[in-house]
Amino acid sequence: MDIAIIGAGNVGRALATSFTRAGHSVVVTSHDPEDAGAVATATRARVATSNAEAAAGAAVVILATPFSSAQDIAAEVTDATRGKIVVDATNRMSFGAAGPEIDTSTSNAEELAVLLPDARVVKAFNTLFASNQSDPVSGGVQLDGFVAGDDADAKSTVLALVESIGLHPVDVGPLARSRQLEGMAFLNIAVNMAEGGAWTSGWKLVGAPAKVAVAA
Ligand SMILES: NC(=O)c1ccc[n+]([C@@H]2O[C@H](COP(=O)([O-])OP(=O)(O)OC[C@H]3O[C@@H](n4cnc5c(N)ncnc54)[C@H](OP(=O)(O)O)[C@@H]3O)[C@@H](O)[C@H]2O)c1
Repeated sequence: MDIAIIGAGNVGRALATSFTRAGHSVVVTSHDPEDAGAVATATRARVATSNAEAAAGAAVVILATPFSSAQDIAAEVTDATRGKIVVDATNRMSFGAAGPEIDTSTSNAEELAVLLPDARVVKAFNTLFASNQSDPVSGGVQLDGFVAGDDADAKSTVLALVESIGLHPVDVGPLARSRQLEGMAFLNIAVNMAEGGAWTSGWKLVGAPAKVAVAA
């Protein structure tokens, strides 16, 4: 699969590692071309000189940046992502008097779908820390890769991508389920922050109904 990863930080590097290991063709882009170059060199991916160039040559585009960059990036890749799959791997968190908070009245993925109305937005990879995006096993257990989306074909493709990197694919339903997926990630982050965790804990839905746990 031809995959563009926008963002060359923890997530960009981890997913580039997994995708190239699984035999996918990966191009990485970032604010700073040197960061993208370093990830590409380490993972046998390629570098694009702009987000639009990266998206133009890909079948699947992964958003692996802070969500605060989403509006600018959407403006850059609107044409290049028309009809394509855009995977939102981002998470949301703010900080209040009582510590970390999350607004679950909507989700980053749903906001991205509004920013890119002609793309097929799918939520995936966000519930896994970067450590487990590159290594799908935690505590000897194969972690789940939860996928939400409104376009059945796009979701099937992403479920297969999730499975290809060694995760157990789980279809959790429409894009609106991203609110809960972002909440799951928030909880895992909050627990690791509060307890000085090793950032390797992950989610596994045990005994899931067969239909949701089977990749296409
Ligand atoms: N870290 C995790 O374990 C984890 C797990 C799941 C999901 N997530 C989510 O995934 C996203 C990325 O997390 P991260 O930890 O990888 O963040 P990070 O290490 O800060 O990396 C973010 C990357 O995005 C790039 N970027 C920012 N704006 C950009 C733009 N307009 N165009 C191109 N590149 C841009 C940054 O470049 P510059 O540094 O040059 O700005 C940087 O390379 C976040 O939304 C986070 O919530 C993180």
